[in-house]
Amino acid sequence: MSKQTKLNIGLFGFGVVGESLWQVIQNNTSLNANISKVCIKHPEKLRKAPRALFTVNPVEILSDESINVIVELIDDANAAYDIVSNALRKGKAVVSANKKMIAEHLPELLALQKKYNVPFLYEAACCASIPVIRNLEEYYDNDLLRSVSGIVNGSTNYILSKIAEDGLDFSEALKQAQENGFAESDPALDIEGTDALNKLTILLTHAYGVVSHPKELTYTGIHHLEEHDAQYAREKGYEIKLVAHAHKLLSGNIAAFVFPQFLKKENALFHVKNEYNGVIIESGLADRQFFNGKGAGGFPTASAVISDLSALRYNYRYEYKKLYNQQPSKLTNDFYLRIYVSTAPDDPIPANFFERIDEWSGNDARTYVVGIVHFSNLVKDTWWKQKGTSVVLLPDAFVTQRVKVKAFEDMLVV
Ligand code: HSE
Repeated sequence: MSKQTKLNIGLFGFGVVGESLWQVIQNNTSLNANISKVCIKHPEKLRKAPRALFTVNPVEILSDESINVIVELIDDANAAYDIVSNALRKGKAVVSANKKMIAEHLPELLALQKKYNVPFLYEAACCASIPVIRNLEEYYDNDLLRSVSGIVNGSTNYILSKIAEDGLDFSEALKQAQENGFAESDPALDIEGTDALNKLTILLTHAYGVVSHPKELTYTGIHHLEEHDAQYAREKGYEIKLVAHAHKLLSGNIAAFVFPQFLKKENALFHVKNEYNGVIIESGLADRQFFNGKGAGGFPTASAVISDLSALRYNYRYEYKKLYNQQPSKLTNDFYLRIYVSTAPDDPIPANFFERIDEWSGNDARTYVVGIVHFSNLVKDTWWKQKGTSVVLLPDAFVTQRVKVKAFEDMLVV
């Protein structure tokens, strides 16, 4: 595609993000782009754009030769995969924000991009306005990248902020997240941690060349947190956040998971509020960097879509450098974490779950234990996933040695 080629867009979906994108493109002449057709599911809905723009027939867009870019912004991951894979087969460039679809179909999408030699960009799928995918892909060399961790779901962060700061109850905070257009159509994806997990799956590919399925990763969300957990956080001066982690261990393997975590105020993520996301990247030479920005909502997500559309102009595509040009890393469950587990007194924690117990407290209503667990115990057991039990990482959760942030400095001979 040359810099002069007009982007003739076929858009799928006209929800919060689709409509924002349409508004931006209507008012942006420098992009030299036009949305020529929009495929929707419910034609009866009242929409801001002219009726003639819409169709319910995907084929009308996919087989239109004049459409050179497909933007996929629907909420149904299976239908999205059909649309995206068909578009790539037809040689059309594709921009998508569908983290679930991408995370669940990474191998097929990688193969399609190779076979049909077409760009497939999805910056909007991770952390909305924060350009994390392109940064991981282009800026950080695999050998130098120590860790990527962060708050990658805006809705849960919004809910936790509103509960902690405005005293809202969970359902009211969730309702506001939905009304503001932050939450997924099925908000269980947000609160149960699946959305963060899907984003982590994608980040793992661009950070470390790891191609995994979300099902292979261990996670939980914020849905089982209770007032006792919030009280523990208050007593210690912590904030609770849902944090996705990918860390390179000394073995060279990658530890990856999503859990709520108690954070101290010294951690930049402590200060990330409402629908904002925050990503900390640690690398050998740059040390620690922190990206902060809106992680959900129409315009912040549309900003990433716009950036991808504009990248198509200079024929940008992901090279998947860590996967194809370097030795990809492998996931491991062989490491130790410091965690807090809180249960109802009649739901005892299995013997031998913890390697070491550092703190214990119990009364008639609630018991909590803080200690060190081998990660494989969290992977193989499911008892901790039941309602009434909360698992929260401690601020300094890693017990197993990670690759040092300043390893290169230590190696320098002066
Ligand atoms: N539901 C998602 C979130 C939208 O809250 O982060 C952005 O991916």
